[in-house]
Amino acid sequence: MRRTRYTSVLSVDPELQKWMREIRRQIHNNPELSFQEHETAAFIQKKLAEIDIESIGSIAKTGVVATLSNNTAEGQTVALRADMDALPISEETGLPYCSKNPGVMHACGHDGHVAMLLGAAALLRTQSFPGTIKLLFQPAEEYGNGAMHMVAADVLENVEAIFAGHIDTHIPVGTMTVDEGIVCAWADPFHISLRGRSGHAARPHEAVDTVVAAANLVLSAQTLISRGVDPNRSAVVSIGHVQAGTAQNIIAQNALLRGTVRSTHEQTRKNTLEGLNRVVESIGLMHGVETDLDFHNCIPAVENDPIAAVIARNAAEEIEVVTSVISQGAPSLGAEDFAFYQKKVPGCMVRFGAALEREGIGVSHSGRFDFNEEVLSVGASWYANVAMQWLRKNTSGLER
Ligand code: NI
Repeated sequence: MRRTRYTSVLSVDPELQKWMREIRRQIHNNPELSFQEHETAAFIQKKLAEIDIESIGSIAKTGVVATLSNNTAEGQTVALRADMDALPISEETGLPYCSKNPGVMHACGHDGHVAMLLGAAALLRTQSFPGTIKLLFQPAEEYGNGAMHMVAADVLENVEAIFAGHIDTHIPVGTMTVDEGIVCAWADPFHISLRGRSGHAARPHEAVDTVVAAANLVLSAQTLISRGVDPNRSAVVSIGHVQAGTAQNIIAQNALLRGTVRSTHEQTRKNTLEGLNRVVESIGLMHGVETDLDFHNCIPAVENDPIAAVIARNAAEEIEVVTSVISQGAPSLGAEDFAFYQKKVPGCMVRFGAALEREGIGVSHSGRFDFNEEVLSVGASWYANVAMQWLRKNTSGLER
């Protein structure tokens, strides 16, 4: 597709980069868990006020929304989203601005996302554009449903499209990934409870053993992927929590398994969920235990809209500090609650390369996580430019 160039590509100067770096470090220093981001939200509102942007707090508990408008009723509305919560992890980086809150850490880069979106706000506030730009600072991405609460709070009212990005320490700064279609998996977390009958370990025939049934279930569930899924279509069943029994000489009356199904194709998902139901019921019959399978907090796949992806790619290619725009390859089996917005409006989620050169650093969701802060300029420029490009797209032949 022909690229349309605009003269007003927004880029970050050293002063703005410094402002964002300080914001990132302040938030990194004071991480807060999902739906507890009170200080983070207050800090975001303070920083927005610093650049003369009004905002509303307490959206979906701890979210913040700001609106930049051309002051006329004309044009479309586009939304930009940053997540703002930390994880229950103890920080081990030893960085001067490392977490002050024991057992809580920004180990996924959401501190950077907030800094980027504030940087974009600083770039956009002096621009004129045909429409409205909504900035969404969203709580509780890690918990998995902050976005659902934001949608329920009507933040997408009048919004025509939404964009977001995530820091990725596997790729270098200056590289971005943009893809259309599915980029993150469906996540279907589940609980399986098994009820048998306790008894003496020496007299199993007088009891109904849930441990043997649970062990069989864990192994049988693996065949759902190895035998039931097209090998070219990624899916996984992981059981991460097993709990049963009370003592070595008592046959366990109850067992609990907790896990998640991840899939990247609708049919694969359907087959795997139905298969898990079948396996659980069959194991129950086979061992004479009562079973109960319960799915909860399911997250849909992140599926990028083709037009939004074109705009996202064009916006990335316009930015001077972006040296390459690539495909992420196969969809990630990770999940992202950005999908809840995409259920309502077209959207696109991209990745910003943020690799560090130090060995062993950068493992997301670990106490050693850190990222290259140069990515803040990339993210802020992209957020600002993608919003401008979406609002101007009707004049560039890309109308849907
Ligand atoms: Ni994340």
